[in-house]
Amino acid sequence: TEPLRLALAGLGTVGAGVIRLIETNADLIERRCGRPLRIVAVSARDRGKDRGVDLSGYAWEDDMTALPERDDVDVIVELVGGSDGPALTLARKAVANGKAFVTANKAMIAHHGLGLARDAESAGVPVRFEAAVAGGIPVIKGLREGAAANEIERVYGILNGTCNYILSTMEDTGADFSKVLAEAQAMGYAEADPTFDIDGIDAAHKLSILASIAFGTELDFAAVTTDGIRRVLASDIAQADSLGYVIRLLGMARVEPSADGVKHLFQRVHPYLVPKDHPLAHVDGATNAVVAEGNFVGRLLFQGAGAGDGPTASAVVADIIDIARLWESENEIDPPFSIPVSELDANVPA
Ligand code: HSE
Repeated sequence: TEPLRLALAGLGTVGAGVIRLIETNADLIERRCGRPLRIVAVSARDRGKDRGVDLSGYAWEDDMTALPERDDVDVIVELVGGSDGPALTLARKAVANGKAFVTANKAMIAHHGLGLARDAESAGVPVRFEAAVAGGIPVIKGLREGAAANEIERVYGILNGTCNYILSTMEDTGADFSKVLAEAQAMGYAEADPTFDIDGIDAAHKLSILASIAFGTELDFAAVTTDGIRRVLASDIAQADSLGYVIRLLGMARVEPSADGVKHLFQRVHPYLVPKDHPLAHVDGATNAVVAEGNFVGRLLFQGAGAGDGPTASAVVADIIDIARLWESENEIDPPFSIPVSELDANVPA
């Protein structure tokens, strides 16, 4: 059988992780999707850097935005990051050239995911972004597929590992925010610009994607009310503790119909008081966790690593496997969001 041919743009920790995963688990992946995955071409900003993986078997493309022009490629895997720039160019060119597109880029999907999905649906090419939300946790697949039969009432969770590390470490040690921030950055999970983490923007990107999947509403990042953790003091955490709570940065989305039947979408990211007997109160360190409440399934809790090379690569390659299994199958209802973009409800922000 024909291999599914991949081009990788971006060879940072996640890109190198994807190469390692595809090499290590090649046999089981081939059994599971009925054909092998083959990396054909790669590109990154710096060709000379040692990434601990052997790139000699792959074609090198100096201009990453030229990858979608290659005839020997079926899927573009974008691991560059940034809401615009080369990542967005790659996405648009991939779709325009009939290539499937897989990304871990939450900022780009939060800003441009809806337009991209619309173009991808009309072109009949798959677009997938499991790794964009909560890293290795299959929460998009969990909601889009696993909970597909449910009306989701609420979705919320810990969507930024850097903030969760900072808050839970402040809780354990009594240290102040600025001291722990430096430690969190040293762990390598923080965004290139760490204000995206600590001001809640990264969590808001992820929440807007989750909300669209959960509620079948148009993705609407601009409507997320966002506050971060800069102003949380060790003494706030101690006060919360004395009242039976911990402080966690949560993203929370819920839909409430108003009297006229219009759906209002509430999307909020800010530090919440979480009762100590709630499962999210026990999520410590750089972990992520998402709770979804469905009208038949009840409360679901997804927990795991929200960042890091292995977990994020796991989600990226799961999307590639999805494409290897489904693309060009008979099923025409395979949109990136839960339903085709044209059928998503218009959003009425609260
Ligand atoms: N900066 C993000 C975090 C990385 O800390 O969760 C994963 O998206």
